[in-house]
Parts: sequence; structure tokens; C-alpha cells
Amino acid sequence: MSAPERVGVIGGGRMGAGIAQVLLGVGTTVHLVEAGDAAAAAARARVADGLEEAARRGKLDGGVDDALARLHMVDSPALLPADTGLVVEAVPEQVSVKLQVLRAAEEALGPDAVLATNTSSLSLTELAAALDRPARFVGMHFFNPVPASKLVEVVVAPETAPDVVETARAWTRRLGKTDVVVRDSPGFASSRLGVLLGLEAIRMLEEGVADAEAIDTAMELGYRHPMGPLRSTDLVGLDVRLAIAEYLTGTLGERFAPPQLLRDKVAAGELGRKSGRGFHTYS
Ligand SMILES: NC(=O)c1ccc[n+]([C@@H]2O[C@H](COP(=O)([O-])OP(=O)(O)OC[C@H]3O[C@@H](n4cnc5c(N)ncnc54)[C@H](O)[C@@H]3O)[C@@H](O)[C@H]2O)c1
Repeated sequence: MSAPERVGVIGGGRMGAGIAQVLLGVGTTVHLVEAGDAAAAAARARVADGLEEAARRGKLDGGVDDALARLHMVDSPALLPADTGLVVEAVPEQVSVKLQVLRAAEEALGPDAVLATNTSSLSLTELAAALDRPARFVGMHFFNPVPASKLVEVVVAPETAPDVVETARAWTRRLGKTDVVVRDSPGFASSRLGVLLGLEAIRMLEEGVADAEAIDTAMELGYRHPMGPLRSTDLVGLDVRLAIAEYLTGTLGERFAPPQLLRDKVAAGELGRKSGRGFHTYS
């Protein structure tokens, strides 16, 4: 099937702005939903900054103005055009917020539209249960930062229709990224493995096995990971990792229990790159 040319993105924060940017970069018309004028202006500016950065690096065909001319801000999912083929939601990681926007989008769109969630940890099966058309619902788990990352996890819930999975995969390829198809399960494939490695690295730091630099270098040079587990935790955000670890402890068991050091750092506001300090220091 041919991929839809009109895509909606709900939430223009860190992830949503990146998703909108890469869609604009391949010639798509994007309706980006943010509630309120100030939030909309900030989201548009994030997309524009990203496009300018891509243009500076020679990674944007057609120019920034051409891309921005295809970006339309709307302040509710109810205002998405009915012929939008694909909608990706990237609102905060809370079931109630996700369901509110997904249900509103479902009402606004035609019956064949594909609704995708960028959740990094919530159960798609649980979200799908509150939708009228669970067969049209799929996960498209992008990674941060979206323009530079190569992977999208396509997450399949029990009722997701096969053509919906194929639409999500086709879009992933069109964006120049690689898809992996994963059954809906806690932490999918990436977070489950990545978070576990990060937690063990934090426990090693707590036990004084080695310092943060040594632990990261061991994995970077010894196992050819592009980024060590503590640097990676700093990039994602210690608060984000803590929330995922707590969720995975509840669903998969005690092996995901957050170490005290992670809790202490979050309580002290050491959240990683975004606060200037986590397991490493950033200027
Ligand atoms: N940050 C990451 O590393 C990362 C990676 C993969 C997936 N995710 C997932 O992506 C989603 C978004 O994360 P983020 O880091 O971009 O968050 P963020 O807080 O940067 O962005 C969320 C955006 O949603 C907007 N929003 C809130 N309520 C809204 C509503 N009702 N309608 C429209 N917009 C609304 C906010 O104004 C904000 O701009 C979450 O589900 C998160 O788990 C995040």
C-alpha cells in the first residue's frame, strides 16, 4: 500500500518535534498538535531549530522554508484533517493524557487511519482496550534524538492489524531508519535490555567496582557500545530511567529494582545532561 502523505503528530516536545522534523524532511505535510498558543510557538520553534541544524549539516533537501511551509500547528487532535493517514502521538508518558488525545484523534480521522504511540514503556494492549478501533493502533517507538537515531521499534499489540504493522514499517524505512518488530511487552526490546544494563552499571558504581568513566569505557572499548551505560542514562535522563525501572519492577520483577544511588541523584536534581550533571558532568 502507498504510505499516507499527510501525517499528524500530537505533542511537539523533545520527541514530537523531532518526529515532525524528520517527516517534513521527506516531503510530508505535518499537522502538529499542541494545546495553547505558547506551547504551539515553542513546538514550532523546536521544529524550525531542528530543520536549520539539519540544513547546516547538509541533511535537508529542499530547504528550511519549504519544509516549514508544510508544517501546520493545530491546538487539538479534534482538528486534525479527516484524511490524515497516520498520526503519531508523543504526549507525556501518562495513560490518561495518552488516551485523551488518542480517542480525540480517532474520532476526527477516517476508519482506515493508523494511530501510533511513541510510548517508551506503557502497555499498548491497555491503551488499545480504550479505543474504538484497536486494529488500527500500533507502537512507533522512536529514539532520542530522533533525527540522528537509526531505529524505530514497531510495537504490535494483540489486535493490531497486519497492514497497520506494514504501514508503520514502511514509514520507518521512508524516514531512513531501520525497524524492528516487537510484541507488546513491558520495556519492549530496547528499554528492557538497555535499562537493565544501566541499572547494573549503577549498582557497580555503588559497590565501588570502578568509577563512572571506567565502567563506560569498559563497554565502549571492550564491547564496542557507542555509548557506555552510565553516559546513556545521562542522555535519557535519570528521572526518566527511574520511572521506567519502577514500572519494569512492577511488571517484570525485582531484577529491575532501582538502586538507591539512582533515587538519590534524582532527588538531588542530578538528572543527567539536561541538568548538567548525572553520572558525568556536562558544561
Ligand atoms: N525523551 C526520550 O528520550 C523519549 C524516547 C522515546 C520515547 N519517548 C516517549 O515520547 C513521549 C514524549 O516524550 P518527550 O520526551 O517528547 O516529552 P516532552 O515533555 O518533551 O513533550 C511532550 C509534549 O506534549 C505536549 N502536550 C501535553 N499534553 C498535550 C495535549 N493534551 N495535547 C497536545 N500536546 C500535549 C507538551 O506541551 C509537550 O510539548 C513519551 O511517551 C515518552 O515516553 C521519550
